[in-house]
Amino acid sequence: MSKDAFTLTSPDGKSTTLPVRKGTLGPDVVDIGQLYKEQGVFTYDPGFVATGSCKSDITFIDGDEGVLLYRGYPVEQLAAHSSFIEVAYLLLYGQLPTKAQLDAFDTSIRTHTMLNEGMLRFFNGFRYDAHPMAMLSAVVGSMSAYYHDTLDINDPGTHDIFTHRILAKLPTIAAAAHKLTSGQPFVYPRNDLNYTQNLLHMFFAVPAEPYQINEIAAQALDLLFILHADHEQNCSTSTVRMAGSSGANPYSAIAAGIAALWGPAHGGANEAVLRMLEEIGDTKNIPKFVARAKDKSDSFRLMGFGHRVYKNFDPRAKIIREMCHKVLAQMGRRTDTPMFDLALALEEVALKDDYFIEKNLYPNVDFYSGIIYKALGIPTSMFTVMFAIGRTVGWVAHWREMITDPNLRISRPRQLYTGPKNRDYVQLNKR
Ligand code: SDX
Repeated sequence: MSKDAFTLTSPDGKSTTLPVRKGTLGPDVVDIGQLYKEQGVFTYDPGFVATGSCKSDITFIDGDEGVLLYRGYPVEQLAAHSSFIEVAYLLLYGQLPTKAQLDAFDTSIRTHTMLNEGMLRFFNGFRYDAHPMAMLSAVVGSMSAYYHDTLDINDPGTHDIFTHRILAKLPTIAAAAHKLTSGQPFVYPRNDLNYTQNLLHMFFAVPAEPYQINEIAAQALDLLFILHADHEQNCSTSTVRMAGSSGANPYSAIAAGIAALWGPAHGGANEAVLRMLEEIGDTKNIPKFVARAKDKSDSFRLMGFGHRVYKNFDPRAKIIREMCHKVLAQMGRRTDTPMFDLALALEEVALKDDYFIEKNLYPNVDFYSGIIYKALGIPTSMFTVMFAIGRTVGWVAHWREMITDPNLRISRPRQLYTGPKNRDYVQLNKR
C-alpha cells in the first residue's frame, strides 16, 4: 500500500504529520521540513546513510539490484554503444544529442582545451614529487582567478562556457601534472584529436619523436570515463552541491569535489587497491590480508570492496573486470596479468568468505580500474586524477541542477551537541 504521510508522535502525545514524497524510481522520502518547528527535535544520521539531500533527475542507483541509470539509460547500454562525450552531453542536458548537437558540443570541448599560460606557471612551483591530486585541486581552484567572465552563477548564459571550459581543461591540467612528476616537457593539446586521444597524446608524447596514439588505449579510457561519469549523491558530488549552495563560484565548488574524491574511502581507493595488490604480492598471502580485513582491531580494509549503496555487484566493476582481459591481451601487457590474476583470486576468496557475504561486500568500481590504468602506462599516483576527469561532468551536471533549482537554499545541517554545558571563564591565575 503506498503511504502518503507518516505520523510522528512525541512521548507526550504531540503528533506531527510528515508528508511522503514520491520519485519516479526508488524509495519514497519522508519530508521532515516541519519536524524541528513542530517537535523541537532534529533527525540524526551520521554519514547520511538514510538521508535524501535533494531531488535529482540525473542518475539512479538500485543498490540491491546493481542498477545504474544515467538519465534513465542503463550504464551497460551506454558502455556498449555510446562515447564519453555523448554521455557527458546526456548527463548535462538530459537527452541523447542529435548528430548536430553532438558535433557542436564536441567541437566546443576540443577548442577549449588550452590553459591560460599563467596557469601553466603554477606547475613550476610544485615539488617534482607533489601528488597529482594536490596539483589538480589547486589548479582547478585557480580557474576562478582566470575566468572572471563565468563567475556570475545567476546568469544561466555563463553556465555553458563554464561547463565546456572545465570539461575541456581537466585532461590538460592532469597531463601537465603528469609531465611535471615525470620530468618531461608539457605537451600542448591538439584540436584534431578527440577527448581521450588528446589525453594520451598530452600524457605520453615527447618532443624527441612522433607519438602514435594507441586506439585500444583511447577506447579503454573512453569507456572508463563513461563508467566514472556520475553516481548520484556520492561524497564528492554532495561536496560540490554543498559548496555551490553558498553561491561560491563553480570552479571552487568543483575543486572542493576533487578534494573530497581524493580520500581512500572514495575515489582514492583505486590507487589504494593497486598498492594493496602490490603489498599482497602473491596469492598465497591472500588469506592473511582477508583475515586482517575482518579483524576489528586492525584498521586495514580490503580496498576496492564494499559500497554504501551497492549491496550487490557494482555494475561498473563487472564491466571493468571484463575489460581487463581484453585490454591486457590487446595491449600485449602480459606483464600486468599477474596483478589481474591476483585481483581475480582475491575477489574469489573474498566472495566465498562469510564475513564478506554477511556484510554484502562486493568489488566496487575501484577494484579493477587501476589494473587497466596501469596497463595503459598511467602511474598509480594518477589513478584518482583519472577518476576525477571522468567524474567532473557528473559534478558539473549536479551543480547546474542545484544552481537552477528555484527552491535552492544554502546547505546547513544541524547536530547533536555533546560538549560542555554553559560555564564561566576562569582567570589564568586561578586554573
Ligand atoms: C567509491 O558513494 C559512491 O557512489 C562512491 C563511488 C562513486 O562512484 O562515487 O561508488 C566511488 O568511492 C567506491 C568506494 C571506494 N572505497 C573503497 O573501496 C574503500 C574500501 N571500502 C570501505 O571503506 C567501505 O566499504 C565504503 C567506504 C566504500 C563504504 O562504507 P560504509 O557504507 O560507511 O560502510 P561501513 O564502513 O559502515 O561498512 C559496513 C561494514 C563495517 O563492519 P561493521 O562495523 O558493520 O562490523 O562492512 C565493513 C565495515 O567494517 N566493511 C569492510 C569493508 N567495507 C566495509 N570490511 C573490510 N573491508 C572493506 N572494504
